[in-house]
Amino acid sequence: AVVSKYATSSARHGTLDPAASLRMTHTATPTGTATAWAGINIALVKYWGKRDAAANLPAVGSLSLTLAELGTRTTVTFDPTLTDDRFELNGVARDDDARVRALLDGVRRLRCLDRRARVVSRNHVPTASGLASSASGAAALAVAAWAASGGDPTVARADAAFVDLVRRGSGSAPRSLYGGLVELDRSDGQVHPVLPPEAWNLRMVVARLAHGPKATSSREGMARTARTSPYYAAWIAAHPADLVEARAAIEARDLARLGTVMERSTARMHACMLAADPPLRYWNGRTLDALDVVAGLRAAGVGAWATMDAGPHVKVLCADADAEAVRSALCAVAPEDDLQITRPGPGAHVEPR
Ligand code: PMV
Repeated sequence: AVVSKYATSSARHGTLDPAASLRMTHTATPTGTATAWAGINIALVKYWGKRDAAANLPAVGSLSLTLAELGTRTTVTFDPTLTDDRFELNGVARDDDARVRALLDGVRRLRCLDRRARVVSRNHVPTASGLASSASGAAALAVAAWAASGGDPTVARADAAFVDLVRRGSGSAPRSLYGGLVELDRSDGQVHPVLPPEAWNLRMVVARLAHGPKATSSREGMARTARTSPYYAAWIAAHPADLVEARAAIEARDLARLGTVMERSTARMHACMLAADPPLRYWNGRTLDALDVVAGLRAAGVGAWATMDAGPHVKVLCADADAEAVRSALCAVAPEDDLQITRPGPGAHVEPR
């Protein structure tokens, strides 16, 4: 077995074998179980495209907001009696999920652990609908597994090897490791917090505009865009300026400036996808209806800006004071049950038992 830098220092220096470090780990957490929550994150400056598919490194940086109310809760138990990993999502067995296995294998490798795990996960967001549940799912799984192995996830999230694992699970998942506004760096695929959740009274009104899974995964969509869209190179070239502008807007707490760059980044990402062959269109008619509602709000003097990801849903960035007005205006395009006012939330963390 590989003895990583995460093993105990005596194991690292070769005085103990990995099994001994494992026993020490389990002295620290006798039951080997932990539950973690990770909020979904919505990109304000978008990520679309990979520069290294194997390491899942992005072709562009990105900047996002982690939300409080929507996310994934996952319990991981390393169980010496198991002969194989077990995974349950929303009450349904999904034992052969390759990404879950890969993430668990990564944690086992870094932690010098060979026990199999029981994973029970619940999405508090519609699964595979373009509402970013893969990001919160990977972040919650990694944090729960890390803690169940006796590690401290608040230390691990600043560590390149741990973040690499999370990013391999889902390209946008590392952004859920921190709360509030978070940036993922193109250069090394690492993440850093930009502004904690309590620092700015933002709201994101989420309008769910379709039910059921999306037709094309973002992984496949990104590969098709990079391969066939004549606008892909222009997207990559124009992108850094949007990040610079978003950072400046955040620094100045200028919501109009941040909303404007978010809409521009969104439009450019979707234009680039629409020019793929065959075209990639995640929007539906209701997406456009919602965009009209947001444009109408702005014309009436309400500060509201819209964004869409790999799905038809519209997420509207606004100030706390305007959230209710935005929500009620969106009642024109979606039933009340499909509208939710969300707040900036904390980073992925272990929950007390
Ligand atoms: O993390 P992935 O592979 O699901 O990609 C997410 C891509 C977008 O949601 C469309 C944009 C983003 O930056 O979140």
